Amino acid sequence: MRDSDLIRVNDLLVTVLLHSGSRWPSKGSKPTAQPVHISLAIPHDISSAARSDDLSQSINYSTLASTLRTCLSPTVASHEEPAFESLEQILFRCFDVLLPHETTSAPRLPGAQIKIVQLKPPLHCKALAIEGETTFGSSASWRLTKINHIVEDLGCNPIIGVNPAERLERQLVRINITVESLNAKWALKHWLDFRALTRRLYQKVEETSYLTLEALASFVAVETLQHLQSHLDNIADYNPKIRVKAAKPCALVFADSSEVEITRYFKDYPMELTLASEASNRFDSSSSAIHCAAIALGSNVGDSIQNIEVALRLLENPLLVVGDRSTISQNSFVYIVNTSFLYESAPMYVTDQPSFINCACMIETNIPPVNLLQLVKKIEEIVGRKPSFRNGPRVIDLDIVLYDELNFDTRALEEQHTLDNLNGHLVIPHPRMSEREFVLRPLYDMIPEYVHPSLHKSISTLLNELTLISDDPPMDKIQFLRSLRTGNIEPQGR
Ligand SMILES: *[C@@H]1O[C@H](CO)[C@@H](O)[C@H](O)[C@H]1NC(C)=O
Ligand SMILES: *[C@@H]1O[C@H](CO)[C@@H](O)[C@H](O)[C@H]1NC(C)=O
Ligand SMILES: *[C@@H]1O[C@H](CO)[C@@H](O)[C@H](O)[C@H]1NC(C)=O
Repeated sequence: MRDSDLIRVNDLLVTVLLHSGSRWPSKGSKPTAQPVHISLAIPHDISSAARSDDLSQSINYSTLASTLRTCLSPTVASHEEPAFESLEQILFRCFDVLLPHETTSAPRLPGAQIKIVQLKPPLHCKALAIEGETTFGSSASWRLTKINHIVEDLGCNPIIGVNPAERLERQLVRINITVESLNAKWALKHWLDFRALTRRLYQKVEETSYLTLEALASFVAVETLQHLQSHLDNIADYNPKIRVKAAKPCALVFADSSEVEITRYFKDYPMELTLASEASNRFDSSSSAIHCAAIALGSNVGDSIQNIEVALRLLENPLLVVGDRSTISQNSFVYIVNTSFLYESAPMYVTDQPSFINCACMIETNIPPVNLLQLVKKIEEIVGRKPSFRNGPRVIDLDIVLYDELNFDTRALEEQHTLDNLNGHLVIPHPRMSEREFVLRPLYDMIPEYVHPSLHKSISTLLNELTLISDDPPMDKIQFLRSLRTGNIEPQGR
């Protein structure tokens, strides 16, 4: 069987009324009149029309076009009718008109592909489009087999590139995103909030400073998937395919642009797309995967150095510390693979208290981040952290600062813009590490070249930048002898 013939109408200009607005949201309840392009493709065997050279044997595309224009455009009699909520609704209206229910007398078309392009879409993008494909199958009314949501040429100006000059000035990046959904019954009832999506992407991309288009494209895919996840809940086995193209028009002198194209699914980002409640499940804690994490320790009550040593010893015995085997499973392990020097620093924020002793260690572990948090909280409790005022004296303080190359936040998306609600949550990398010399300097001892996964700067760069602006007295490295004598803190790995 050969591929079916197609009759097309391309870019039919139609004026529609849309409640979702155009460049700007519509005012009040009044829909916004605006132009859209409609393209359609109808499968139809043209061989008999070809033989007879007679249009009556084929589909009269003039009729198709005028039918659509009439049923979508606002009527002269009533300026506000018909009005649509979304591009999806326009698409489905087109299908209804072209592919009416079986009972009607007109000869019916076998199916259709339709694309609706919003020519004056929300800010920053050139066009938005929605594309649908339907057949009849065995049913009496049309059935949606595929729906694509398309963002075309979203223009953002992030810092991007490896050349020194590119680190200094923002440059244009154009991004195309296609969300392809098969089995998209949900689309009949929900629609994708394109305005919220493009607004989110524009803001988030502007804040980035990646070295590569590869990282940026992947970031856009994650943000898009997160948007879908948070706006289309209760949609079981929804598995869209996300295609992202990111192009740098200013990269090459003799080319129009350089570009990266990727295709991604939910399953490609198990870490980034994890919500707090599911966090533990997504990490297979029975697996033998070994993760590397950095933990910062600090104490300023009692014998601080001894507190730190006790905490380190507990850290290496997770099964003794946490009895609950659903949190710390039977095969859990933590190996301390390196420790920093010990530092003494004047207290930050609240100054009339004893000075702090700080250090950090690198661990290898199979414990997922959220469970590791429960382990370190338990250690703080055991070593004797009494609840005290924020930034006040504490017997011991343990923070998970880094975990592999993970960017991780257990807070709901809406809450991630502030740092005032961290209590009880886990944010990795530690959100305040770049302003804390007492975290950066110990890390610098062990992993100076580690590149911060969202700031994209090495530990040594972050430390340099901080010490440049800070006029605090430098922290004192504690006499090395002391730590050797106590036996547990050694500069070498075990
Ligand atoms: C096609 O349809 C248009 C109006 O819809 C009509 O004027 C025209 O005569 C038709 N052409 C043929 C060949 O049937
Ligand atoms: C986005 O799609 C449009 C239309 O297909 C195309 O002209 C443009 O070059 C694409 N941009 C990128 C970054 O791929
Ligand atoms: C361990 O840390 C020391 C400094 O504290 C550093 O010199 C060394 O390179 C680190 N070793 C490893 C294996 O990371």
